[in-house]
Amino acid sequence: MCGIAGCVGHEGGPDFVLEGLSTLEYRGYDSAGIGYPAGERIEVVRAVGKLANLVAALGDTVPDSDTAIGHTRWATHGRKIVANAHPHTNEDSTIAVVVNGIFENYVELKESLVKNGHLFRSETDTEIVPHLIESYLEDGYEPEAAFEASLAQLDGNFAVLAMMAHSPGKLYAANIGAPLALGITENDGRFIASDPLAFSERTSKVVILEDNDLAIVTQDDYHVGNYKEKVRTTPLPQDLADLYEEEHAKAELGGFPHYMLKEIHDSAETVHSTIRGRILADEGIVKLGGLESVQERLRNIDRIIIVSCGTSYFAGLIGEALIEEVAEIPVEVQLASEFCAKKEPIDKNTAVLAISQSGETADTVSALRKAKFLNLLTLGVVNAPGSTISRLTDAGVYCRAGEERSVASTKAFTSQVIVLSEIALALAKHSNELSRPLMHELTELPDAINRFLEDTSQIKNIAEKYAASKNFLFIGRGYNFPNAMEGALKLKEISYIHAEGISSGEMKHGTIALIDKNFPTMAVATDSPDLEKVMSNIEEIKARGGPVIAVASEGNIAIKNIVDDVIYVPKTMEQVQPILNGIALQLFAYYVAAKKGVDIDQPRNLAKSVTVG
Ligand code: BG6
Repeated sequence: MCGIAGCVGHEGGPDFVLEGLSTLEYRGYDSAGIGYPAGERIEVVRAVGKLANLVAALGDTVPDSDTAIGHTRWATHGRKIVANAHPHTNEDSTIAVVVNGIFENYVELKESLVKNGHLFRSETDTEIVPHLIESYLEDGYEPEAAFEASLAQLDGNFAVLAMMAHSPGKLYAANIGAPLALGITENDGRFIASDPLAFSERTSKVVILEDNDLAIVTQDDYHVGNYKEKVRTTPLPQDLADLYEEEHAKAELGGFPHYMLKEIHDSAETVHSTIRGRILADEGIVKLGGLESVQERLRNIDRIIIVSCGTSYFAGLIGEALIEEVAEIPVEVQLASEFCAKKEPIDKNTAVLAISQSGETADTVSALRKAKFLNLLTLGVVNAPGSTISRLTDAGVYCRAGEERSVASTKAFTSQVIVLSEIALALAKHSNELSRPLMHELTELPDAINRFLEDTSQIKNIAEKYAASKNFLFIGRGYNFPNAMEGALKLKEISYIHAEGISSGEMKHGTIALIDKNFPTMAVATDSPDLEKVMSNIEEIKARGGPVIAVASEGNIAIKNIVDDVIYVPKTMEQVQPILNGIALQLFAYYVAAKKGVDIDQPRNLAKSVTVG
């Protein structure tokens, strides 16, 4: 996904855009660019890589203009080169455009534009937009109509922001399946960005553009409406001041070297916030206000399909085990992109539950759209308030992890597993022998996490010992199986070490062929009914000379005699243990990456959530 920011009628426009882009850089950092009016044309300045390179390219004098647009890129079409950086313009630079998303029909549109003499200078799909708008202007369309007509030509999920020299002091924006918000001030201009946090220092008055909304924005006015219809209104902005305050407070690095480590250390507070007012352990009650509106429909649900991507997928696998064991409702977890591709029989008493930190991941949004098309009940477990998924679902439960800045998800994963535990307890038709202990252990968790995080030197030492490894295997069983897969993903994401997470029982059916003295294994071996079986899997690896690190429950001394290194975690019940194990594996990956000196918060090739399908 990319980040878009712009403003009109705001003194020091380019400064604001650079500031806004710095807030959005988690969305992609393959290149960045800015555009602003310069006489009869629009000047664009672009640079490859981080925003800092764009600032350097701009030099000492940031241009002075009250209107500007800008972009940080996560490459979809075309290499990471200056020519592919946004903004893209038409030949005479009288139209400039920045886009977040993709155009599925850009090849044929480009062919017809080239046939009509349009000159293209990049490998991107985005560059067709300024040429499309130009072709309509050449046919006599007014700028707004040319923008509308161009939108109608484009297939895909995207957000676009355009500036035209033909209509100075005006910006053209649209949300066609990707997020965009307006920031409104009394007399300090208007802002536009992919995430309201980009202009939160300037205003808390926000208009969120709904799907298919187009907006024409000037210094003194803004008109919004569905681009397919002629109706334009000036919606009243909502005030997000409270949200901002809390978000900003949580988003500070607080003395930590990286957001990832800071966010891991937020885990206890995250658990506390996510259970506050929801789990009343002494009364044995779980209250989820976000599900009240669909209580009736929930009673008829006899199957749940969880759809999600990345780390949220592995949280979903833990949710599957929890909901099946506690609420006794069959659950199937599907990768959102595969759910979209599958042709399977789904009966009407199936609910689709989407899990997403950002609430904007395109594959998960598409999976939800399919579920809504099938008239299924849609539920959301989302961290970002006001996001597309939180608005698309019939009901849902917010994670309360606060803003997560590091691209690799940590505290949001913890919060997702807590919310899934709460949903499992809330869906249980009757309280069973697990309900009360589970509520109790969840309320005890913040203390256990704080105790565990007091001293992480043991994990740091072990991680540094294995940091030069080229490959890593992660194994686990039952509730610890998803932990193994998420642990492998964390290590891959931020240290670039190839890692694979598998069920320890499955290892002997092929993967064990990889094992030798240079191929270490992380065994998630905390106390559970499956521990003995996991121990024999560890023995199988040791028998082939493979080094083994075990994540084990405090008090398990015997395991020391079998494995090479042990990461001890506080002991809790099997259903809650994946949260503590998850934090241990997040720290392991963090310290390996720190030892390797790579960019931990913004790993190469990744983005915080991907809004292109
Ligand atoms: C990826 C992120 O782009 O999207 C992962 O790098 C994340 O960290 C995944 O888990 C899914 O994102 P979300 O926001 O839908 O949970």
